[in-house]
Amino acid sequence: MKLTHLAVFAAVTSCALASAFVAHASDTESKVASPIYGVTIPDGYRQWQLIAPAQEAAPLNELRAVLGNAIAVRAYRDGTLPFPDGTVLAKLAWKHVSSPEFEPATIPGAATTVQFMVKDSNKYAATGGWGFGRFVDGKPADEAQHRTCFACHQARVKNRDFVFTRWAP
Ligand code: HEC
Repeated sequence: MKLTHLAVFAAVTSCALASAFVAHASDTESKVASPIYGVTIPDGYRQWQLIAPAQEAAPLNELRAVLGNAIAVRAYRDGTLPFPDGTVLAKLAWKHVSSPEFEPATIPGAATTVQFMVKDSNKYAATGGWGFGRFVDGKPADEAQHRTCFACHQARVKNRDFVFTRWAP
């Protein structure tokens, strides 16, 4: 009887401690904003739907996955352009390495960057309605890097609301 109580107590305590730690970690992470745009890492983005994977050749040698929140996914499915306010797109990137268990397979190695584009047509009117954020280990990259985002997206995909990624068939 006593032992059972102890076990329950231990389980409840460690669970509370674990969730307190997780909450704290994601709080600190999500509050550091990108320069220029003030974009933060959105909670729960790892649960978003996959839009498409991508692979980048040398020198970056990366695997990427572009994910979208619910508003983004609906806009993709309906073919809505421009994307509505509230759309958030995430791009996760890793170095690519070959699988230690099966060499021909290319798998994610170390994580490199996590990037976001947030649609708010009033707040970000000067940059096509998009705010940008690039994060390395949960911390935003510097201002110089954030000066490059819109220029490249604008030069290449202005006619697609500044978004490169198409829904993977
Ligand atoms: C030199 C060009 C270039 C620059 C600079 C650039 N991007 Fe991109 N971005 C791309 C390409 C190409 C893709 C398509 C996916 C891929 O191939 O990785 C992309 C995709 C994205 C996506 C997914 C949505 C989409 O458009 O497909 C996000 C989010 C993103 N970039 C954020 C950023 C942020 C934040 C910065 C600045 C810190 C940035 N990008 C700078 C070329 C660029």
